[in-house]
Amino acid sequence: MSGELITCGNNWIIIDKLDNVSDLEEIVSEADPRDYSDYTTASGGSFQRYFTPAGWSPDYIPKLPKNWDTVKDTYENVIQKRMIYHAVFPFEWHKLYMTSGWTVTGDKGSYHTPHEHGRDYVSSVIYTEVPEKDPGVIYFVMHSDNYSLLYHPQKRLLHVLPEKGMIIIFPSWLIHGTLPQGEGKRTTVNFDFRGTYHEEYGQFSS
Ligand SMILES: [Fe+2]
Repeated sequence: MSGELITCGNNWIIIDKLDNVSDLEEIVSEADPRDYSDYTTASGGSFQRYFTPAGWSPDYIPKLPKNWDTVKDTYENVIQKRMIYHAVFPFEWHKLYMTSGWTVTGDKGSYHTPHEHGRDYVSSVIYTEVPEKDPGVIYFVMHSDNYSLLYHPQKRLLHVLPEKGMIIIFPSWLIHGTLPQGEGKRTTVNFDFRGTYHEEYGQFSS
């Protein structure tokens, strides 16, 4: 119910499957129509559209989908619950809060170049639509510290084959990318997060 945790040194990812992503399919259909893939890692004919203002483009304010507040609450909980279950939720944190959301749609040949989401702390991807054959592997570079490079060379690159409803949660520093997909449409919904701090730690991030 809370998925699987895979670790390597300080790095971790959680993989789980959601039964129903109709709320996400709905917001995808309402995403701002402007394509920002030229400014991102989405390549090979992908379309990248934002739900929230893009951090690197402060003047860009998209119109939020009508159920945005509910979706935001739902997925803050979905992801926080799984991080707590797998003991990767920092003890200083009180609550996860979403900082950005976007969607990427691709067809045959589209992919993402290797990148990380350094501005935030927790990242996630949820697949709402996946081609039947050759859905395009997502890979994670798990050896981003010396410890794991020395002691876990066999786990350096983790490949995950996407399925509809799959959710992947990972720290934002973790380098990842996707291999070119086959024929058919692949759609992801992506959310990044930070955490508010417990009062006793004397700092608040929102
Ligand atoms: Fe990414």
